[in-house]
Parts: sequence; C-alpha cells; structure tokens
Amino acid sequence: MNVLLLGSGGREHALAIALAKSPRLSKLFAAPGNPGMAGVAELVSLDVADHAAVIDFCRVMNIGLVVVGPEAPLVAGIVDDLAKAGVKAFGPSKSAAQLEGSKGFTKDLCRDFDIPTAAYERFSAAEPAKDYIRRRGAPIVVKADGLAAGKGVIVASSVAEAEAAVDMIFGGAFGAAGAEVVVEDFLDGEEASFFALCDGERALAFASAQDHKRVGDGDTGPNTGGMGAYSPAPVMTPEVSAQVMREIVEPTLKGMKARGAPYRGVLFAGLMIGPKGPQLIEFNARFGDPETQVMLPRLETDLLDLMLACADGRLPEKPVVLSTRTALTVVYAANGYPDNPERGSEIRSLDRSAALPDVVITHAGTKRDGARLLANGGRVLNVTAMGDDAAQAQARAYEAIRLIDWPGGFYRKDIGWRAVAPRKQ
Ligand code: AMP
Ligand code: GLY
Repeated sequence: MNVLLLGSGGREHALAIALAKSPRLSKLFAAPGNPGMAGVAELVSLDVADHAAVIDFCRVMNIGLVVVGPEAPLVAGIVDDLAKAGVKAFGPSKSAAQLEGSKGFTKDLCRDFDIPTAAYERFSAAEPAKDYIRRRGAPIVVKADGLAAGKGVIVASSVAEAEAAVDMIFGGAFGAAGAEVVVEDFLDGEEASFFALCDGERALAFASAQDHKRVGDGDTGPNTGGMGAYSPAPVMTPEVSAQVMREIVEPTLKGMKARGAPYRGVLFAGLMIGPKGPQLIEFNARFGDPETQVMLPRLETDLLDLMLACADGRLPEKPVVLSTRTALTVVYAANGYPDNPERGSEIRSLDRSAALPDVVITHAGTKRDGARLLANGGRVLNVTAMGDDAAQAQARAYEAIRLIDWPGGFYRKDIGWRAVAPRKQ
C-alpha cells in the first residue's frame, strides 16, 4: 500500500520510520517532510492547505492511507475532504478535531459525560470572566478557546495576573482563537501524556510519555513545543492507565458519538495525576511532539495495521505491544528558540552520533544546502536513545547529542530528571 504522511516535524520523522517497518507498505510519501525523512520517504512539495491538490496527488499515486501529523489540517477538515473524495485517512474529522480546536467544546463534553477535569466557566466578554476569577481566587488558569500554537494558556498565580490574561486574550493577542475564554481551577499534581487509538466506537491504550515544556533546565523559562520526553511515564502505572481509559477516554468516545462526531485517530490526553486521581487538562487530536519520538521506538505492533484499523472502524481487541525498555529524547533547538530562533547555522558530525547503538536521530527544522545540513526552525533535531531504564536511556541520549557539532544550538541538560530520580511517594 502507498501511504502519504503530512507534516514536517520530528513527530513525522518518527512516524515515517515506524511506517517504513510495515511489511504492508509499498511506498511512503511525505509532504512536505524534512531532509531526515528523505531516507525513508519520498518528499513531495505539496501545499497541505490545498486539499484539492492533496486529493489529486492521492489519486495519481494510488494512496491507500493518508496519515495526518499536525493539528492544523485536521481542524481545517482535510480528513472530511479526503473522505468525500474516497481517500482513507488516519485522523479525526473536522467536527471530532474540536476536541483540540475548542477548549470550551471539550470542557462542555467533560461536564456532560462526567469526565474528571478542573471546574470551569466559558466567557465571551472580559467583565464576567474577571468577576468569576475574583470569586474563585488564585492560582487560576486562563485559556484562549481556540488553537494558539501552545501559547494560549496562562497559569496565573495572582488574580491580577489572571485579569491581565483575560484582557490580553480579548484584546486580540491570539486573533480568532481568543474570541472566547475558558477560566478553570488550577490542578496540582504530576503531568503526563497518554495516547489512545480510536476507531469511532472503541479505544485501545497506546502508550504514555512525559514531556518537558519549559525551555530551561529545572523547568524554567518560557513554554515551548517540548524540549524532550521519555516513555513510559512512571506515573502512568497499569492501574492509572486503566483508570484513564475507563474514566476519560471511553466516556469521551461515547460523548463524541452522541454529539454526532465519532472520534477516529489518536487521542492525546494531557493529564494531571494528583490527589483526586487522573484529571484531564486538555485533549489533542494528533500524536505529540516530542512524545511520538519516544513512543514509537518502543512499538512492536505494526503501526500501519493499527492506523488502518482506526480508519476502518475495526480496532483489534488485542493490546498494543510495547517494549518495556525506556526511550528518551533530547531536543536540540536553535539558539533564540522559542522567541526568535536563529536560522542558517551549520550542523556537523550527525552521522557519528546516529551510529551509536540504540540511538535514533530525527529531524525537525533542518534544511539541506548541497552537502551541508543547516538549521531552519526552532526545534531542529531530536536525539532519541533506548535503554533498559530511564537512567541508561538518558546517559545514551546525552552521549549521542554531545557528539553533534552545532554551535548554533542548545539543549536542556536535565531531560528525564523525574524518571531518573528516586520516586517520592
Ligand atoms: P495546555 O496547552 O492546555 O496543555 O496547557 C499548557 C500547560 O499549562 C499544561 O501543560 C499545564 O502545565 C498547564 N495547565 C493547563 N491547565 C492547567 C490547570 N487547570 N492546572 C494546572 N496547570 C494547567
Ligand atoms: N508535546 C506536546 C504536544 O505535542 O502538544
């Protein structure tokens, strides 16, 4: 079967590597892809926002499955347009992608289907939002309703900070994504990412991971797309994972079906594991980045089979098989990331690093210039290593990243600290 993968990040490179292992795959195309993916896929310069062009390509190349990496094409309805044209895709429809595209939609679903999450209200004007904030007190969390490139959430430690966030969002800082605001209680605990595959009716637990969102060591500095991750997340014990499936994922599938928007694809639950058990922070309608880079190297089941089963509404009963080893990835980002990443610096000695055993390097913002490899984005490379435990995976990933010669980049030195340190009970 020919497969077209949409996207160009480290997540898509990891997806490409996993798809390429499938005996069912004839040929993999990636649009637009990145230079690292050229080793496993043929890169196609398609504009993913031009759905008609994507459909034409699928017809000409006899594409059996389109795999959608990022959220923007999902929220723009690419899966619906492909379906109308008779092309199968892995990912939710536009209405089902509202689970990521509208925080208010998701919170209302939680309320209607008893899904544990922080108490909240939705607002379309500043004054009532501020009244509510004054009544609830701080800490409190203010969120723009729509997609805001990961920047639309303000965890406010004072009422004044929360009120300023309301003004900023209604002032247009996030454009149309800020037409509505959700204000919710602050949740205390340990964050984890949990992924389930869904076929509209049923869900299958996939894997867990933990991300490091802040740019600096010790979880300091501004939020980023993610500076590193590891899988599994020790806090996601089999019991907690089963509880998340029962209390969060399954009621969500039921609710989405009842809303006339059955959910197919991967459901990414951002969770807070606290004294009240797992609570939902947010859903994403896609795989995580960099979580995918650490989950897929552990996957022993055929990814293409699983994705086709989701698209066809026939997920197997059999659990997904994962290696019990730990994978850990360190993101190598361009100097200046996240505010103003510098482009164009040269990256050397990648091959030496990638040749180490149990190490996989995936590209994100890279560009080829003849024989040279240049930085061309914020998050540029992901260095992933497998180990028998988190400490071994961490040591290997850092050994590998140190071999890369790239003065134009930086990375966190403490990825995995929580998994490596003795766990506090
Ligand atoms: P989100 O974009 O919704 O994942 O939010 C970004 C980050 O804000 C999350 O990863 C959490 O660290 C934090 N956050 C969001 N909502 C809450 C909440 N209700 N309580 C505590 N932290 C939160
Ligand atoms: N790493 C978080 C995300 O993909 O949204």
